[in-house]
Amino acid sequence: MEEKKIPAHIAMVMDGNGRWASQRGFSRSIGHRKGTETVRGAMEFCIDNSVDYLTLFAFSTENWKRSAAEVDAIMSLLREFLYSQTPEMNENGIKIDFIGDTSRIPASSQRAMEYARETTKNNDKLKVNIACNYGGRADILYATKEIARRAARGLIDPETLTEEDISASLYTSDFPDPDLLIRTGAEKRISNFMLWQLAYCEIYFTDTLWPDMDKEKFAEALKWFSGRQRRYGGVK
Ligand code: IPE
Ligand code: IPE
Ligand code: MG
Repeated sequence: MEEKKIPAHIAMVMDGNGRWASQRGFSRSIGHRKGTETVRGAMEFCIDNSVDYLTLFAFSTENWKRSAAEVDAIMSLLREFLYSQTPEMNENGIKIDFIGDTSRIPASSQRAMEYARETTKNNDKLKVNIACNYGGRADILYATKEIARRAARGLIDPETLTEEDISASLYTSDFPDPDLLIRTGAEKRISNFMLWQLAYCEIYFTDTLWPDMDKEKFAEALKWFSGRQRRYGGVK
């Protein structure tokens, strides 16, 4: 029997909402709205396939460069999504949390985030981190500042600092490193997502735009992952 390798942690760069909308003559925010339906599908897919952790890149530290109207639309959708979906996510055993500097997120969306986090905090079927105002470099910078502060107070010795200490200081400290990264929307880049954590991640790029990702398309990514031989620098 063929061994089916399941990633414990899948990360997703949900790209292509804007193009999906433009191709249909809609405003970009319609694409973002359609994209939230795919988020539900992605969570269901993970549960159906016994994936334990899911990280979703929703808004990067660079996405503030977009028009105020688009940023507002994304923040409103986040709020709407969390208020409308939290009861169902809770019933499905999903634990929702957030990574990134959420202090810059509008207060009304922050309240929705707190509601989702509080409501689902005891669940453990699928643990989901939503990356919001997240940047890989900001993550490392924030961790470095914290480590430097502790060193300055004599709480840690720089000479004995380990890679595990750094991992434990990142936003993602309670998640293992991702095994599979899925980037939709045709671009072949990381766009400042989880730079430290992706060190040995298998990366699946697809031309499919995020709103067009369905269970079959996610299954193709999983099948591709199944065929990877992970060597971590060794020889097999
Ligand atoms: C969604 O896709 C990702 C977010 C930043 C919210 P985009 O809005 O980047 O869509 P494209 O890349 O312009 O098609
Ligand atoms: C990456 O997509 C960020 C998110 C999906 C949230 P972008 O659309 O911002 O990436 P670039 O600008 O094409 O690299
Ligand atoms: Mg994009």
